Amino acid sequence: MSTDAIVILKQDHKEIRSLFKQFEATGENATATKGKLVNKIIELLTVHTYIENEGMYPRVRELVPDLEDDVLESYEEHHVADVLCVELAGMAPDAERFDAKTAVLIENVTHHIEEEEQDWFPKVRAALSRKQLQEIGAHMLELKESAPRRPSQPSALKKTIDAVVS
Ligand SMILES: [Fe+2]
Ligand SMILES: [Fe+2]
Repeated sequence: MSTDAIVILKQDHKEIRSLFKQFEATGENATATKGKLVNKIIELLTVHTYIENEGMYPRVRELVPDLEDDVLESYEEHHVADVLCVELAGMAPDAERFDAKTAVLIENVTHHIEEEEQDWFPKVRAALSRKQLQEIGAHMLELKESAPRRPSQPSALKKTIDAVVS
């Protein structure tokens, strides 16, 4: 398995997008299926956001100062997704707003993933060496082991706030 940071993150993105498609393909009344899919989406996003917040973004800020604005905007986009995940995690899948909130989460995260993959990850790849990207990737794989899996775990939100405020 590659430890290249961008390869690892893109693999996560692929899994997340596939769950989004599955959710969008479910029928009106597939409440149980939708609940399960949203649980899985929340879990993958919580882990993914954590390893980016903790492993990728701080290193990019440090090593590629030109990308500072992109990183700051991405932290804000993570924050919006975090809020939606917290709300969805506490909502029954048959609640009136469940589908609408999930649709907004999917729209936001899809936009965010596109910006990462098309806009600033290529600049990171150009600015860093293979070795640097592999070091960042290895660190993220380590972080994955102990990453929060539910947004209610304190470590899930703390780092976003710390990273932006401190
Ligand atoms: Fe991200
Ligand atoms: Fe990402």
